[in-house]
Amino acid sequence: MNKKIEQAAELIHKAKYAVAFTGAGISVESGISPFRGENGLWNKHHPVFFEIEFFKKKPLQSWKKIKEIFYDKLNDAQPNSAHQVLSKMGERGFVESVITQNIDHLHQKAGSKFVYELHGTYKQLVCTECNTEYDISFIDLNFLPPTCYICKGILKPDMVFFNEPIPKFAESASFREAERSDVFLIIGTNAEVLPAADIPVVAKKTGATIIEINIKESHFTHTITDIFLKGKATEVMDKLGELLYL
Ligand code: APR
Repeated sequence: MNKKIEQAAELIHKAKYAVAFTGAGISVESGISPFRGENGLWNKHHPVFFEIEFFKKKPLQSWKKIKEIFYDKLNDAQPNSAHQVLSKMGERGFVESVITQNIDHLHQKAGSKFVYELHGTYKQLVCTECNTEYDISFIDLNFLPPTCYICKGILKPDMVFFNEPIPKFAESASFREAERSDVFLIIGTNAEVLPAADIPVVAKKTGATIIEINIKESHFTHTITDIFLKGKATEVMDKLGELLYL
């Protein structure tokens, strides 16, 4: 393992354009549940509440669930050392950008710049009628469903629901970053949903060396990964941080 981490650190050190790609696993040690597996959200809650059709028909029911699962937890969640090391890698020029499937805003809270949020963010709400955008700090979620100050339309979290398209800018920027990268660092994701799952594949096809950090093997491990670093995101990132003198 030590040898592999050293190899990974050297690759990141020498990279011309390294890009990180993160999923729920990087935030587990900040107390946020992943989606799949034993403690996964989809094991405890029915995903129907996150289907856009359901939200449109029954916004109150959907909102109650969304508030319980995300909003009651995310505001207090803090970045862990994996987010922090990644942010320092950005500051020091070792990593150019972060593509994330997470909606928890923890990369930005840790100070990362150039974060592409493929699945949107919990931080912003959008009016379903007039498209006005609100930062969550303006909205009182004790009254559900929240409504627009301008037109009284129902507000929707600016996260991508099932059967909704990915934000155009985040999608095209993420594929562009993958194509440009020569080192691609995957952290804590099963990436079972499209188009996110294709992004690391594009990085590999266009010549990047793939480094993967996960507590378990994913479907990338034996297909595209060049260096698999098995372990918790915080532990492996802390070690990489030390090796890069961050
Ligand atoms: N450190 C590193 N990896 C971890 C840790 C940890 N401490 N804990 C869990 N993992 C790994 C798991 O082994 C798994 O591979 O993180 C991954 C989490 O996978 P998922 O729960 O499937 O989350 P993710 O891949 O981000 O899901 C992608 O699916 O339903 C959608 O929109 C949702 O953005 C989400 C998308």
